[in-house]
Amino acid sequence: MAKLKTAVLISGRGSNLQALIDYCQSENSGAQISLVISNVMGAAGIERAAEAGIVSKVIEHNSFPNRDSFESALTETLDSFGIEFICLAGFMRILTDAFVKRWHNKIINIHPSLLPSFKGLKTHERALKKGVKFTGCTVHFVREEMDTGPIIIQAAVPILSDDNAESLENRVLLAEHRCYPLALSLIAENRVAIINEKVSIPKSKAPGVFFLNPIE
Ligand code: GRF
Repeated sequence: MAKLKTAVLISGRGSNLQALIDYCQSENSGAQISLVISNVMGAAGIERAAEAGIVSKVIEHNSFPNRDSFESALTETLDSFGIEFICLAGFMRILTDAFVKRWHNKIINIHPSLLPSFKGLKTHERALKKGVKFTGCTVHFVREEMDTGPIIIQAAVPILSDDNAESLENRVLLAEHRCYPLALSLIAENRVAIINEKVSIPKSKAPGVFFLNPIE
């Protein structure tokens, strides 16, 4: 079966891009990364793409007069590569409704919290401040409103008493790197259905009934 032609949009470090690359390099992956786009020149993720032999394009948002013209350039590039699916991986631009509609159910994002908690930026700082005992990450389909959309996978990550934002980020990233490739693989294998704006993954297994934090 033909592999799902996927583009990954980044702005920075690209550790999730790397996790997606690693998954796509496995022989029986259902997806292939055909293009990486960064809106930031010199983003570390561009180097990761190069090392994997993946074409990357830099489309800097600030060289365009407005969002629409920036996104026209994105669309033109995506279309010229025959892209069928988009993964946002630390892409730090808000996308317009028109762009999100154009890619309806064909664009996913990873967010470093258990949505709908802690939408937006600085998720780990805010989770620590609230004193919640679990946080995590979410892979979801992108909808017009930021950090909303049908949830595909979440991972719960415990917050430890001596955590700071950095230690928590590092723990959540481990979960992100498991979740994002898994979500893409489920989609590429046509195992994900969206029914009434909720994701259903028939035959998927569930973990235990609950987790405790702290434990004695
Ligand atoms: C990740 O924490 C992701 O959840 C968020 O931005 C960060 C990107 O990190 N959307 P990286 O560039 O993938 O390393």
